[in-house]
Amino acid sequence: MKPIKIGLLGLGTVGGGTVSVLTGNMDEIARRAGREIVISHAAAREYNADEIQGLDKIGHISDDAFAVVNEPEVDVVIELIGGYSPAKELVLEAIANGKHVVTANKALIATHGNEIFSAAQEKGVTVAFEAAVAGGIPIIKAMREGLAANQIQWAAGIINGTGNFILSEMRDKGRNFDDVLKEAQVLGYAEADPTFDIEGIDAAHKLTIIGSIAFGIPLQFDKTYTEGITQIEQVDVLYASELGYRIKHLGITRKTEKGIELRVHPTMIPERRLIANVDGVMNAVLVYGDAVGPTLYYGAGAGALPTASAVVADVVDTVRALTGDPENRVPHLAFQPDAMSDTPVLDIADVETAYYLRLAAVDRPGVLADITAILGESNISIEAIIQKPSIDGSSHVPIIFLTQQVQERDMNEAIAHIENLDSVSGKIARIRLEKLA
Ligand code: HSE
Repeated sequence: MKPIKIGLLGLGTVGGGTVSVLTGNMDEIARRAGREIVISHAAAREYNADEIQGLDKIGHISDDAFAVVNEPEVDVVIELIGGYSPAKELVLEAIANGKHVVTANKALIATHGNEIFSAAQEKGVTVAFEAAVAGGIPIIKAMREGLAANQIQWAAGIINGTGNFILSEMRDKGRNFDDVLKEAQVLGYAEADPTFDIEGIDAAHKLTIIGSIAFGIPLQFDKTYTEGITQIEQVDVLYASELGYRIKHLGITRKTEKGIELRVHPTMIPERRLIANVDGVMNAVLVYGDAVGPTLYYGAGAGALPTASAVVADVVDTVRALTGDPENRVPHLAFQPDAMSDTPVLDIADVETAYYLRLAAVDRPGVLADITAILGESNISIEAIIQKPSIDGSSHVPIIFLTQQVQERDMNEAIAHIENLDSVSGKIARIRLEKLA
């Protein structure tokens, strides 16, 4: 059988890793795919030739990505340029030319995936995107195929390595936020624009994809609630530990009677949960299926070789599927295109969750009663209260509340009332809390 010819777009961190995995494991990969796979063409504006192993095995390298997607010899295009444009135009042109596509581009899939998949459907080609979510962890395959028997009830994941690295270092070593972020950038974990990591946008891209695959809904990045970790203070990390919790930047999606939750925010979770102990740049996704119960997937969420591992696995899948009938391939979003659900994505105000609250209040009789009265009026049940000694001789003392589940709208109202009390100073720190049981 003729070898499959790959057109590779981008020779950066993941592109370089992909060249090295595809060429380094060439024989083993051919045994698995049933065909030899060669990179016949590659395009990159710039690359570091000394750092890419196997570069000499690429047929032609140019700086013209559009020439690669229009090259008749190329069977499968691997898009590793990242970003929205020209990645979108390139992917659509590759599809229009009848080429299969493999991409690691989470931003592209989360925001333009619906259009891309419908173009691919029309042309009878596949667009594979395992590397777009949680790097080397085969979470798309696990959910789309391995859990196909289940009604997924919820999924929660640590899906941004940079954010997890920052929170882990703040807790374990008392390091400050900016320092750790700089280190993550030097190590190549952070996005080109690190705001995407610390403000939760990167995690929201990935969660959008997880939600669609879990529940068979179209990709709706614009409805994904996104909150970063920049407001997390060292003191909250320490209090959470004292209470037996860890603060993790989680992406959570859950099916409720009212609709589907899609939310990314710092979350307190019990420290005894396995996922609470996923530290550093590692990623993990916890998926709860009605038949299987909880399942946990753990691994490297970023880096050249782990991400290349997912890219190349998609190439192998694509090559295997090339001989199959397009109608019978695994659907892009797990559910058949004509069986997608229109269940709405919930506004964050409609989401129910428990809370950690930290406020600074004057230490005098009746203050706590005023605060608990407001919580009571909003139907918020308190699970624990701790008062800490004042810091640096301040007239105010930190008071921490753990609450039971409450609708976010009610909590917003209660927080606004409490912040208006004369006895309470400044803003209340709030972290949503999930038991993940
Ligand atoms: N910046 C991302 C992270 C890289 O830190 O997880 C992988 O998507």
